[in-house]
Amino acid sequence: MFSFTPTPGQSKADLHAELCVSASALVQDEPDGVANMANVAALIWQFLPDLNWAGFYRMVDGELVLGPFIGKPACIRIAMGQGVCGAAAQSGQTQLVPDVHAFPGHIACDAASRSELVVPVIRDGKVIAVIDLDSPSPARFDEDDARGIEALAVMLAPRI
Ligand code: SME
Repeated sequence: MFSFTPTPGQSKADLHAELCVSASALVQDEPDGVANMANVAALIWQFLPDLNWAGFYRMVDGELVLGPFIGKPACIRIAMGQGVCGAAAQSGQTQLVPDVHAFPGHIACDAASRSELVVPVIRDGKVIAVIDLDSPSPARFDEDDARGIEALAVMLAPRI
């Protein structure tokens, strides 16, 4: 059994640091990428409040394909450049979207989603996956979340 519990009352930056340390402990000895993505999706869900979707899309033959996640069933394939995930994958840049309704081409997998954070996972200079977080609250994600999930993506890159 794994028991990782966020320390109550800490800053958001510290919460992300604890999330990353916990995720690292989970994946460090496991080479299976699906298992690692599944556990990290669960850990994100446990650590970060106010989410309605948390998970991965993987780059497969030039398009994004749904990976392990927590939340409602989601669209399975996303073309490069489409939606928030496709924008992150194409640009290699984090997409911090305070209002998904204002993002051109946003793909609504869950009608409850109001804001979104998508961070590319880059290995050997290529985007191999994206981490996608959705929230039912507008402007749920800030720069601390972006930097935190980017650090998580760097740690995970060799393990998924
Ligand atoms: N909203 C995403 C699609 C994936 S779901 O949110 C899980 C997008 O616009 O790319």
